Amino acid sequence: MHSARTLALAAGLALATGAAAQQMAVAQLINPEGQKVGIATLTQGQDGLTLMVHVRGLAPGLHALHLHSVGKAEAPDFKSAGPHFNPYHKQHGTKNPHGPHAGDLPNLLVDADSVGTAVVKASQVTLGQGVNSLFDTDGSTVVIHEKVDDDNVQADSTNTAGNAGKRLACGVIEWLK
Ligand code: CU
Ligand code: ZN
Repeated sequence: MHSARTLALAAGLALATGAAAQQMAVAQLINPEGQKVGIATLTQGQDGLTLMVHVRGLAPGLHALHLHSVGKAEAPDFKSAGPHFNPYHKQHGTKNPHGPHAGDLPNLLVDADSVGTAVVKASQVTLGQGVNSLFDTDGSTVVIHEKVDDDNVQADSTNTAGNAGKRLACGVIEWLK
């Protein structure tokens, strides 16, 4: 009886918020030791994809946040995640006139308590069909780095990752079940 009521409530909520019509995915973020350190939620709405990130245990300050091109998160270095998701064959950097990679996102601010929270639009990617789908054949990952992304303001073609240092948190993007 109790669970039936909970289900009915949840269904009502989904209808009320339009959640049933949205596509949602999540990425469980782990650190180089393999421990859970946060979550990213990806919601495909009428106006594109929104990424919500919650992470803890990172040094206070700005950290690069990217979507990487391979859906594998193997600690400790997360090299398995491959380079930035780049279906349009652009150069790196949100401030590069020859960019950006579709997976280039604004830097994530981590507060004095080592907690980072961000809500960002990822306007060049989709959870749906197409060349820019995060659910392409090899999947995709959310990655947070040691350092800030320099956004490649110099438009340096050899700058492929924003000099953001090590990969400190990573999670495979999966459908929300
Ligand atoms: Cu990255
Ligand atoms: Zn990039």
